[in-house]
Amino acid sequence: MSVSSASSSVTICVIGSGYVGLVAAVCFAEMGHRVICVDNNEAKVAQLQRGETPIFEAHLPQMLARHLNRGVTFTTDLAAGIHPAEAVFIAVGTPQGSSGSADLSYVEAVVSQIAQAMNGYKVLVEKSTVPVYTNEWITRCMHRHGVPSDHFDIVSNPEFLREGTAVGDFLHPDRIVVGANNDRSAALLRRIYAPLTTGAYYAQPDALPGPCSTAQPASLVVTSAQSAEIIKHASNAFLAMKISFINAVANLAEAVDADIEDIALGMGLDARIGPRFLRAGLGYGGSCFPKDVAAFSWVAEQQGVDFHLLSEVRKINDHQLDLFFEKIRSALWTLRGKKIAALGLAFKADTDDTRDSPAIALIRRLLDAGVAVAACDPAAIDAAQRILPTSDALTFADDPYAAAEGADAVVILTEWKEFATLDLNRLNRALKFPIVIDGRNLYAPAVMRDHGFTYVSVGRPAIYASTQGRPRKNPL
Ligand code: NAD
Ligand code: UDX
Repeated sequence: MSVSSASSSVTICVIGSGYVGLVAAVCFAEMGHRVICVDNNEAKVAQLQRGETPIFEAHLPQMLARHLNRGVTFTTDLAAGIHPAEAVFIAVGTPQGSSGSADLSYVEAVVSQIAQAMNGYKVLVEKSTVPVYTNEWITRCMHRHGVPSDHFDIVSNPEFLREGTAVGDFLHPDRIVVGANNDRSAALLRRIYAPLTTGAYYAQPDALPGPCSTAQPASLVVTSAQSAEIIKHASNAFLAMKISFINAVANLAEAVDADIEDIALGMGLDARIGPRFLRAGLGYGGSCFPKDVAAFSWVAEQQGVDFHLLSEVRKINDHQLDLFFEKIRSALWTLRGKKIAALGLAFKADTDDTRDSPAIALIRRLLDAGVAVAACDPAAIDAAQRILPTSDALTFADDPYAAAEGADAVVILTEWKEFATLDLNRLNRALKFPIVIDGRNLYAPAVMRDHGFTYVSVGRPAIYASTQGRPRKNPL
């Protein structure tokens, strides 16, 4: 391991203009590099060329406007992107394949295309999340296409950005990991990230503010390619484990009338544990944790390593949604013919991404149970409409009050701040019955009681508005 220095503009090709590729491309331009971003989705490229951002992500539209056709250009022509580039970042999808393993067919397709477009030495960078030894497979693939070893190096540079805070995370990273098996390729990656690691970027008057600064610039860790590949999978699996752990504790807390919010606070103040990723709720979702835990589990299995802990992490996560569905049923007695307002569609707040969203999974279950669902979300309605069934039982509302109008209950599924700051009197008036089942613990139970709600949340005592005190056990 070592810490980086040195600086100068690099010509970079980024392949894939999704949540990671687009953010990386625009941020590299922001850092002073010349970037060509390639995607094979013509409609997306046309949209980007017009300066429109296909995803909902803070700071991205403004930053794209600043750098479009200056620092960053978009094309569907992969060879045109590759030819001038010193570094080629591969940022295509690696979805879950059969048996939990990562499907690397998009990566292989791109590597084959790169091999055919090579016109001199380049560093190929794995930005996509890939299993250990992918660097070796990419090398073999390049050789199979006749590219000699001295014309390329492979570097693993995993991405840790979170959706919703992606631009800030990219420009103010906790760490930059570079998995390089030789000095030449590591040196190029150091040059690329130098504006962040020297602090030069943070000295600019229009730099995006954040935790890094000239005094405390980003740190860069150099490891072997295999170690870097594992750092990414292990980091996501560890965070998923933290969430499953707190969800399991929440279930215990509920059984003994304790409060998971107090417990998480008390645990998180221990600096060795830390307060983040201890929010109990519906379980983790999104395009990364579920597939990356599965892929890491598969890697361990392939290597004959006993890592059953990961199976437990997944089991707890799946069970969390079952428990929440049961809470809704229990609060409403029967479900068929009821109307429920669903607040949230995105897998978490501040994104329009509905991939592997617990909210979508829950809404599907409600629809299957004969419930009419009125859903709303500040950003993800379009994305949700593309994946949810078209049905008279499913409507979309512009705001939470419209969704709640005449509903038997509200369920809170995504932790948007818009849902944490509702006018509770207005919500109560809109509902047929004042029942809120909160999968994200956005409200204090005492506040909900004072506003006349039956309030059921995760890992905290439930409040029943219509009974004399809380029943010792909720009737089945
Ligand atoms: P995405 O689906 O949003 O984007 C992938 C893009 O690649 C799409 O625009 C697609 O059209 C394009 N593409 C596919 N095949 C191509 C080809 N042959 N040529 C050119 N373009 C092609 O995916 P994403 O969410 O950006 O994730 C990309 C990778 O980054 C995955 O491995 C993921 O695990 C990892 N990752 C994602 C996040 C996240 O928050 N989304 C964070 C860290 C790492
Ligand atoms: C994650 C990783 O955090 C990021 O480093 C990686 O690059 C991509 O995958 P992301 O999927 O964007 O990022 O969201 P994240 O904020 O990590 O949340 C993932 C899921 O966990 C969400 O469904 C969220 O609601 C849930 N979560 C998160 C909890 O249930 N409790 C928590 O305390 C934190």
